[in-house]
Amino acid sequence: MPRWAGLRCAVGDTRTGGAALMPFDASVTMRGLTFRSPLLTGSGTFGYGDEFLSVMDYAPLGGIVTKSLSIRPREGNPPPRICETPGGGVINSIGLANPGVEAFLKTKVKSLPVGTTRIFLSIVGDTVEEFTAVLEKLETIPEIDGYELNVSCPNVKKGGLSIGGDQVAVAEIVRACRGLTKRFLAVKLTPHHPSVPPLAEAAAKAGADALTMTNTLVAMMIDAEKRRPMLGTVTGGYSGPPLKPVALAKVWQASQAVDLPIWASGGISDGLDGIEFLMAGASGLQLGSILFADPYAPARILREMEAWCDRHGVARLADLIGSLRT
Ligand SMILES: Cc1cc2nc3c(=O)[nH]c(=O)nc-3n(C[C@H](O)[C@H](O)[C@H](O)COP(=O)(O)O)c2cc1C
Repeated sequence: MPRWAGLRCAVGDTRTGGAALMPFDASVTMRGLTFRSPLLTGSGTFGYGDEFLSVMDYAPLGGIVTKSLSIRPREGNPPPRICETPGGGVINSIGLANPGVEAFLKTKVKSLPVGTTRIFLSIVGDTVEEFTAVLEKLETIPEIDGYELNVSCPNVKKGGLSIGGDQVAVAEIVRACRGLTKRFLAVKLTPHHPSVPPLAEAAAKAGADALTMTNTLVAMMIDAEKRRPMLGTVTGGYSGPPLKPVALAKVWQASQAVDLPIWASGGISDGLDGIEFLMAGASGLQLGSILFADPYAPARILREMEAWCDRHGVARLADLIGSLRT
C-alpha cells in the first residue's frame, strides 16, 4: 500500500525490502479543511469526476474541481476546439461548454464521486447575478465541500477575462457568493492582469478562502499550409508544461500579497513541479492537461513528491509550503 494511502503510515515499507523509511505525511490543511494530499484536478480536465472512476484510483487526490457550470447550458465554441503546441502545450477553445446548472442537478449530480475525495464545483457567469444564481442552486447538494469561482476564462466573449481583469467586479462576485455560503470558496484569477496583488487582495477582502493561480493564457497556432488558424475561434487558452513558469510567478506573487491558501494551476506534470509550486507558496496543486496524457498522473506525482521528500529528509509535505529561500 502506498504510504500516503492512510495519510501517514508506515515505516517498514515493502518497496525497500522492509527497511525503515521516514514517515511521510502528504496532508495539507487550508482554512480548517484537511485534504489528504495537495493534489486536486483542474476544472474542465476531469469532467464532473465520474468519467475517470473506472480507470483511476482517487486515493492520491485531495479533491476534485469540476467543469465550470453556468446558469444556462452553453454549447461552447465552433470546432476545432483543441490543438497541441511544440513543447507539450495545449491550446483549447472549448468555451465553457456545459449542460447548465439545472440539467446538472437533474442528471449529473448523482454521478459525483461522493465519498472518494473532496468535491469542489466550479461556477462561471457573465454577471454577479449569474454567479449567485448558480451557487444558490448548488447549495442544495449536501455532499460537496465548496466551490471555485471561475472569473478568468479567456474563451468566452462576455464575462471571463473582462470580469476577471476588473478588481471591483471580482470583489462584487466574491462578496455576493460569500454571503450565500459557508462552504470553502476558491477564486480562480486571470494570468492576464499585469499585477497580481490588487486582484488577489480584492478577492481576499471579499471573503475568498483560497485563490487559484492561474487560468490559461490567450494563445494561437497557425497551419501555414492552409493559411488558417488551428482553432475555430482563432485564439484559445494555452495550458500544459509551457505555462508552468508563468503559473509559478503568479503563485509566488499571490502568496506574497495575501494570507490565503493558493491553489496552483499551470503545467504541473511531475513530482518536482509539485515540490516547486509548494515552495513558491501553493497549498493545493491542480493537475490539468497532464490528465489527458497520463490519467495515472496523480499517483505517480504523489510518489515522486514522496521520493523527493525522502531524499531531502522532509517528513511533512506541508512543511514545504512557502519554503522558497529568496
Ligand atoms: C480542455 C480544457 C478545458 C478547461 N475548462 C476549464 C473550465 O471549464 N473552467 C476553468 O476554470 N478552467 C478550465 N480550464 C483550465 C484548467 O483548469 C487549468 O487552469 C489550465 O489548463 C492550466 O493548467 P494545466 O497547465 O495543468 O492544464 C480548462 C483547460 C483545458 C485544457
